Amino acid sequence: MSGGPLLRVRGVHRRFGTGPTAVHALRDVSFDVAAGTMVALVGRSGSGKTTLLNVVGGLDRPDEGTVVIDGTDVTALDEDGLSRLRRAGVAYVFQTFGLIPVLSAAENVGAPLRLTRVPARERERRVALLLELVGLAEHARQRPGELSGGQQQRVAIARALAASPRLLIADEPTGQLDHETGMSVMALLRGVVESEGVTALVSTHDAVMMALADRVIRISDGRIEGPAGERVGAAC
Ligand SMILES: Nc1ncnc2c1ncn2[C@@H]1O[C@H](COP(=O)(O)OP(=O)(O)OP(=O)(O)O)[C@@H](O)[C@H]1O
Ligand SMILES: [Mg+2]
Repeated sequence: MSGGPLLRVRGVHRRFGTGPTAVHALRDVSFDVAAGTMVALVGRSGSGKTTLLNVVGGLDRPDEGTVVIDGTDVTALDEDGLSRLRRAGVAYVFQTFGLIPVLSAAENVGAPLRLTRVPARERERRVALLLELVGLAEHARQRPGELSGGQQQRVAIARALAASPRLLIADEPTGQLDHETGMSVMALLRGVVESEGVTALVSTHDAVMMALADRVIRISDGRIEGPAGERVGAAC
């Protein structure tokens, strides 16, 4: 796409429950993310980070507002459209890795490609390339239980990249890792933004991640912090 934002979030509200006890997890959230950039989403526990990432990735729907990814209004998609989006356009990396325990590292990375029509030989090539990219070529045959936490998270990142997503969403990808391992996973994420031309939105508590990001978006009590002029269009 040519220069515009890859992600455009406008006026997003998300409430849980109704009446006086309703939780307003997101309140009038608007921001853009420019293509090919890495944005860190920062905020205290309960501030709305996971809720926002779920809404952006089409795992959850906002009560109001729109999320447009690469020109597609995610909030207007039906279930079929959403599954297509998850297969090709948007990929998730979860804090708890989410790998399939009985599959090897290589099989986990290749799993999303089995859902597409990528021929077996091409799939193997892509898997080998991705394992190389995350520094795990030597560990292709090991299962998640035979890998360290940092290695498992690197497999999860490789898997997220398998179908060449436009947008990579990662919810505290280093939350389960010690500082040093977390740093190497973050440096890897930074690297794949460059090498794969992917756009990344990453929630984190980690100052190093913020330093590696092109931009930091702060969320507090469901609202994006900072003056409106900075929120919308600042990264474009
Ligand atoms: N399914 C749900 N039902 C009711 N309330 C919810 C639900 N999901 C989230 N919330 C509430 O919405 C608010 C935002 O939660 P969210 O998980 O987005 O926070 P977070 O910033 O990701 O926190 P953490 O850093 O602890 O992961 C919290 O008050 C939470 O209790
Ligand atoms: Mg969270």
